[in-house]
Amino acid sequence: MRQQLAAANWKMNLTLQQGETLLNEITSASIELLAHQKAVFAVPFPYLSFAQSKLIGSKGFEVAAQNCYHKKSGAFTGEVSVEMLKSINVNYIVIGHSERREYFNESNQQLADKINLILEAGITPIFCCGEPLAIREAGTQNDFVAVQLKESLYHLSAEQISKIVIAYEPIWAIGTGLTASSAQAQEMHAHLRAALSGQYGSAVANTIPILYGGSVKAANAAELFSQPDVDGGLVGGASLIATEFVTIIKSLK
Ligand code: 13P
Repeated sequence: MRQQLAAANWKMNLTLQQGETLLNEITSASIELLAHQKAVFAVPFPYLSFAQSKLIGSKGFEVAAQNCYHKKSGAFTGEVSVEMLKSINVNYIVIGHSERREYFNESNQQLADKINLILEAGITPIFCCGEPLAIREAGTQNDFVAVQLKESLYHLSAEQISKIVIAYEPIWAIGTGLTASSAQAQEMHAHLRAALSGQYGSAVANTIPILYGGSVKAANAAELFSQPDVDGGLVGGASLIATEFVTIIKSLK
């Protein structure tokens, strides 16, 4: 069974105290994860070590950074390097979120650079892709997402790409309450897997977890995750509510 992940993306929400309450509520829900399942919390940079300390003892619970810089080190005031994240034992880094692409002009090339640094450090990247509404309405979403993969990932070797996690997040479904139907999610995930298979072969493509993101909530998680190519979710709003996220974690297959 491929790795299945329920990943919380807190984005720029919650004070440390609110975050602590949320983690307390989630960890006290006594969730038993199976060996192939993970619950990942992408918390703001200042909370990473604190969140790690709260999750010690919760098997399968991990912390992720929401971003990193695309250069190794140096005079880049305000940025956070992969090496810094490695030095505090962060195991996952989300990159290429549509909010970062849109508001911070992140390019596919910068994401390729980030991926290289992340893999070099032995950290798992959670690489986000997904199309805006206009592309979906034009019906060209498959090509749009294929270019995102090609320009950021296809320089990797088969061994390298088998260490990444992909998150498909259609922009029109993020924070809008408008979820892709499970059929739409499955169709795109199958397309992504077929594209990866064309590039790297099916044995490699079949090991790569592909998460769905965009208005995932307790009420729709099980249906989405039941799709054969949907390997869990990357969750924004609903990950800030303990009862919602606990149900989402429990919906992993
Ligand atoms: P929502 O779950 O709030 O739609 O956000 C999805 C997302 O952007 C996760 O990265």
